[in-house]
Amino acid sequence: MGIDLTGEVAVVTGASGRLGTLWVQVLSGAGAAVAALDLTGAEELAGSADSGLGRVLRLTADVTDRGSLRDALAETTEQLGSPTVLVNNAGVDQPPSTEQGSWLFEDLPDDLSAAVLAVNVLGVLKVCQVFGADMAARGRGSVINIGSLYGNVAPDPRMYAHLPLDPPFLKPPAYGASKAGVSALTRYLATLWGPRGVRVNTLSPGGVQGGQDSTFLEQYTARVPLGRMAQLTDLAGPLLFLASGLSSYVTGHELLVDGGFVSW
Ligand SMILES: NC(=O)c1ccc[n+]([C@@H]2O[C@H](COP(=O)([O-])OP(=O)(O)OC[C@H]3O[C@@H](n4cnc5c(N)ncnc54)[C@H](O)[C@@H]3O)[C@@H](O)[C@H]2O)c1
Repeated sequence: MGIDLTGEVAVVTGASGRLGTLWVQVLSGAGAAVAALDLTGAEELAGSADSGLGRVLRLTADVTDRGSLRDALAETTEQLGSPTVLVNNAGVDQPPSTEQGSWLFEDLPDDLSAAVLAVNVLGVLKVCQVFGADMAARGRGSVINIGSLYGNVAPDPRMYAHLPLDPPFLKPPAYGASKAGVSALTRYLATLWGPRGVRVNTLSPGGVQGGQDSTFLEQYTARVPLGRMAQLTDLAGPLLFLASGLSSYVTGHELLVDGGFVSW
């Protein structure tokens, strides 16, 4: 991509997931040192995605636990230096599957909705309270909150109607609400920290291809002007843009990377 992040210290939450692995590779590949945070033990993860130029430090941290985030900040600062880029990527969703069961909207368990909001919204808030505030205290940084297409449009239940589930599969309503909440937090923090040199933006991917059944794929891609789901490589450039000085006058923005889905 030709973007040089040498000297930057990036923090990625949910770093061992699908997109998290990509963010770590992309940032490290551009020369940034990366603290890769996830729930899973650091030793177990060591070396799994360290193919880039910058050093990758694997740390165990739960975004719902501010104490563990404070520990991770201390370890990051000691080993890599003070963070200058933060990717709030950790998130939970319920993928369409026949194994996890399904509910009528009115019967959705409270704990399912609460778990989504605890990680996707309060988790972003807590990570910003720890890592973002550290950047603001130092007067420089770029925060990228990972949102979703479904923070902007409702999922279409007809895309899941072919699944053999009774009642039919519903994407958790808390998921879209959580991602709309992420965009609201982005705007809040962009105004709070603008005067302190920290930019805050949302990167909202559309559906990323991988593991979906052929009926879903056909119906989803028919709704996308570019005629396909996102590939991981489609997301790399947008992340580097928001992480680097290329976006030096961009803050409070939501960058949708959805193949044009919302234009239709
Ligand atoms: N995959 C997609 O199509 C897609 C589309 C739009 C947005 N997103 C968003 O991208 C982000 C990453 O999604 P993904 O597809 O890579 O999911 P994933 O399930 O592969 O990865 C999520 C990661 O977050 C971690 N995590 C969960 N709870 C955590 C916690 N409390 N503390 C720390 N880490 C925690 C998990 O261990 C996992 O490694 C999410 O915020 C998701 O909502 C994904």
